[in-house]
Amino acid sequence: MNPSGVSHHPESLIPVNEPLLTEADFDAVMQALRSGWISGAGPHIEAFEARWAAYCGRKHGIALANGTVALQVAVALLDLQAGDEVIMPTFTIISCALPVVLAGAVPVLVDSDPQTWTMDVSQVEARITSRTRAIMPVHIYGHPVDMDPLLEVAERYHLRVVEDAAEAHGADYRGHRIGSFGESSCFSFYANKLLTTGEGGMLMVDDDALAERARRLRNLGFQPARRFLHAELGFNYRLTNMQAALGLAQVDRMDEIVARKRRMGQAYTERLSEVAGLELQVQQPWARSVFWMFGLVLSGDTGIDAEEFASRLKARGVETRPFFLGMHEQPVLREMGLFDGEVYPVAERIARGGLYLPSGLGLDDAQIDQVCQAVREALA
Ligand SMILES: Cc1ncc(COP(=O)(O)O)c(C=O)c1O
Repeated sequence: MNPSGVSHHPESLIPVNEPLLTEADFDAVMQALRSGWISGAGPHIEAFEARWAAYCGRKHGIALANGTVALQVAVALLDLQAGDEVIMPTFTIISCALPVVLAGAVPVLVDSDPQTWTMDVSQVEARITSRTRAIMPVHIYGHPVDMDPLLEVAERYHLRVVEDAAEAHGADYRGHRIGSFGESSCFSFYANKLLTTGEGGMLMVDDDALAERARRLRNLGFQPARRFLHAELGFNYRLTNMQAALGLAQVDRMDEIVARKRRMGQAYTERLSEVAGLELQVQQPWARSVFWMFGLVLSGDTGIDAEEFASRLKARGVETRPFFLGMHEQPVLREMGLFDGEVYPVAERIARGGLYLPSGLGLDDAQIDQVCQAVREALA
């Protein structure tokens, strides 16, 4: 991995992901730099927040240092008490469980849907208790969660919804843009995301009071009326104006970025869906994925696991990444006494048999053909 953690590859290796930045992006960053607004305030931040909020169909965007702290601020807005519970998929990144645990609350897990690999919404209701406060759906690898039944359960039990949209910029669910659902939504703009600011994130809300509080939490709890007077403990989670300029430049070409990712997803699907021994993420009729990462899962009868498959692909010049490992299998969480005896068969199966293929914006058709050829050879 290079310092940005995206990819490190000799010329012959097709990287799992590489950002695709343009002259317009470089110019935007230089302009921000020359303006003197180089820290966590400035015109590009406000413009980026407004444009991204409009793109997602939200009233407010609060730019933050990364996607993990966007989730942390979203969770802070829930005002969880010790022992409160938040329902989330086990198959996700630790960024989802982390702020809940740090708040003294408890992540409560559901398994993955075998087709979409996102949370199995039909399992949510059975996990609700008198301590449940919120649900955190995660749109895994760019495929939306089935939001209608999830929102229906949330409403019936008066639960708040924090949408983790970190992997699904521009995706939609039944015609509605991902990032517009529930009380709040969180994005990551890490280097491998559809829109990147290097490091970066954004919290989106519609409620004015929540937006104001999130802005205060981002900025050490400073109050507009009197700086250095604190009524609440906040964080320094500011995004810089230069990063915001980089993000803003990409909002203009989101249609092109999304179209490119969908072409990649379609090309892989056409070439790999008939290959025996492979399971792909099945796009549902109600969802339009953005194929953030193109994943595949090896079926048991191939006789190999994802690790062996990855090394065979690497030998053929193809870089890959393993899938998430479920929260219930994380030593750091289990040592806290969480998830004792819990089993999530779908998440466990895809964690062991899954990896994702090169999925960067710069990938061309010839490389996709090369990757698919390597996949077939590695399985033979
Ligand atoms: C689903 C999900 N949530 C949250 C995050 C955290 O974002 P960041 O890496 O910007 O902290 C990621 C990161 O890739 C993610 O995939």
